[in-house]
Amino acid sequence: MKQIQGIIKSNYKIADHIYLMTIKAPEICKTARPGNFILISLGTTYDPLLRRPMSISNVKGDHLCILYQVVGRGTARMSQFKVDDEVNLIGPLGNGFNTDNSGSSLLIGGGIGVAPLIFLYEGLLKKGRQARFIVGMKANELDDILAGFSNDIEIARENSPNDGPKLVTDLLAPILKENKIDNIYCCGPEQMYVAIKRICADYTDIFIQISLDRHMACGVGACMGCVVPVRKKGRKESVNLRACVEGPIFDLEEVILDA
Ligand SMILES: Cc1cc2nc3c(=O)[nH]c(=O)nc-3n(C[C@H](O)[C@H](O)[C@H](O)COP(=O)(O)OP(=O)(O)OC[C@H]3O[C@@H](n4cnc5c(N)ncnc54)[C@H](O)[C@@H]3O)c2cc1C
Ligand code: FES
Repeated sequence: MKQIQGIIKSNYKIADHIYLMTIKAPEICKTARPGNFILISLGTTYDPLLRRPMSISNVKGDHLCILYQVVGRGTARMSQFKVDDEVNLIGPLGNGFNTDNSGSSLLIGGGIGVAPLIFLYEGLLKKGRQARFIVGMKANELDDILAGFSNDIEIARENSPNDGPKLVTDLLAPILKENKIDNIYCCGPEQMYVAIKRICADYTDIFIQISLDRHMACGVGACMGCVVPVRKKGRKESVNLRACVEGPIFDLEEVILDA
């Protein structure tokens, strides 16, 4: 696992608490796959000490795109990084989405969970695969970023005063009824995964993967701080898998979620 010095090329606010950062990091860009993440160092001070995990939201040539929400001290520090600052990175990490199955794909993003799905969506479309992307957000905070790369994304807005879908899962049931979907890829809060599991219960032939968000300390499989209980197909006992190495992408049917 290599540490790499990246160079910040842009870092700006796109909505309240939401930022887009691009980092020149050719070595990571070369091998990054959708669903991979990086660990980003917050600088040379000991507080906050730990690197923060961030999904690779896209790769443009030698540049990584990181779409992030400021939720605490680490991400607030990231929002202060300036153009031409050097930043220490480890990555690409994690297993990535499994896109080996052919057929149609539906991508489901909840809030800042759209980050890794942007990279996945572009990748699927480039390969000529049929893919549809639905997103849930509070108001319009992700509109600019989504409009920047596709006009075909369907959106549910939780705080909208109008009738219509409020949650991304409101869009899901009608899509499943009217279309043949073979693969579903999701990233968002855990309650969204619980709802997706319930709605998809009758569609047992759909391959569904989720990206799990866990606090990470080492990020490279050493500390066991990020374990996820998983029950592999055909097994009675569950095992603990590390989100940073065996994940963060898991099959929805195998993960034991906090219902
Ligand atoms: C594989 C992976 C990929 C991620 N990709 C992205 C991304 O692309 N964009 C993005 O905005 N965020 C992403 N995250 C979440 C991001 O790492 C956390 O929001 C960040 O570490 C918070 O750091 P902080 O110091 O700002 O917040 P803290 O001060 O550490 O915490 C602030 C609040 O956020 C909660 N929190 C902190 N870390 C996590 C975490 N990992 N999971 C859930 N809750 C947390 C804390 O409990 C607290 O309530 C990802 C997480 C993982 C595990
Ligand atoms: S964060 Fe240390 S094992 Fe995953």
